[in-house]
Amino acid sequence: MILKDNFGRSIDYIRISVTDRCNLRCVYCMPDTIKSGCQQDGKIDIGSILTYEEIVRFVEVASTLGIKKVRLTGGEPLVRNALNELIRGIKAISGIEELTLTTNGQLLATMAAQLAEAGLDRVNISLDSLMPHRYSEITKGGDFNKVMAGIRAAEAAGLLPIKLNMVPMAGINDDEIEAFIRLGIKTGYQIRFIELMPTVVNEHLFSSGFIGSDEIKRRIESKFELVPLKLRKYGPARYFSVTSHDGPEPWAKGIIGIISAVTCRFCPQCNRLRLTADGSLRPCLYSNIEVGLFDALRNKASKEEIQNLIIKAVDLKPERHNISDGNEKKDDPPTTSGAPFIMSGVGG
Ligand code: 5AD
Ligand code: SF4
Repeated sequence: MILKDNFGRSIDYIRISVTDRCNLRCVYCMPDTIKSGCQQDGKIDIGSILTYEEIVRFVEVASTLGIKKVRLTGGEPLVRNALNELIRGIKAISGIEELTLTTNGQLLATMAAQLAEAGLDRVNISLDSLMPHRYSEITKGGDFNKVMAGIRAAEAAGLLPIKLNMVPMAGINDDEIEAFIRLGIKTGYQIRFIELMPTVVNEHLFSSGFIGSDEIKRRIESKFELVPLKLRKYGPARYFSVTSHDGPEPWAKGIIGIISAVTCRFCPQCNRLRLTADGSLRPCLYSNIEVGLFDALRNKASKEEIQNLIIKAVDLKPERHNISDGNEKKDDPPTTSGAPFIMSGVGG
């Protein structure tokens, strides 16, 4: 079974937000006025979010429609209690070929081994600076040493390849693009440069800090040789092998990704749906369209009913988003009008 939308795209990938809570407050993601998310697990109001049993049931049904890849996101997924149970449950579903996780890494050092043991295939770790002080500023209190320990623990646990997500922002961390590439070359970690996406909480930052993927690529090419790689058929990332011709590691190679979330090269290949922690299925990150699944899952609806809700969400998937990076008409400022959301609620 292949799930196709109205624009011929095959949908085989679902991102599941297991909580909208987070133990950090990254500048582009959350306003630091949201305090309620600071608590960890025990305080989450489980009555309004899907239980692990309900998420597993959802993935089981989704797999009968052709979903093959699952990524767990947040908020910060590792703040939810006993995530291993969910990983084990999803991993036991025969149609699911790949189960991954996006984390800020703060809690990874102690959890990586158990996550791998439960069946997790890989992790993406968010890391926007290699300078401890700057890292702490961007994340509003994150501990750089903890992420680094988390990355090493994930590597030791075999959650490979390690992928690091970095959002270059003008005047904030864009002077570190080269350092990230050199780290990737030295360690084998894949560095993924992600365009800053506009949300309701980062309008000012977006208008001053946005750097488009073409500009990111140009800057990298002034120092390194890039050769395009065909690693993935679908998705927003363009991958390249990167070669260093100088510095401490001459002729060494690495792999990088450049993710054009805003300049929208990838809408035509978008293969994903998102499930929010409170059980809404969203066909596009940049649209408010959603199909509620919470009641159906809580009331143990039949497989056919759940299948129909998933098919309905796929049917509503828009052709493309309408976010502007400000480059269409040079005089207009960038707009966030198409992005009335908080990222932590929909899982990036
Ligand atoms: N723009 C770009 N990336 C974002 N992320 C969260 N919010 C944004 C945003 N506004 C990324 C984080 C992390 C993943 C969860 O999503 O950097 O890697
Ligand atoms: Fe938390 Fe991730 Fe948002 Fe940072 S980007 S505040 S780590 S959810």
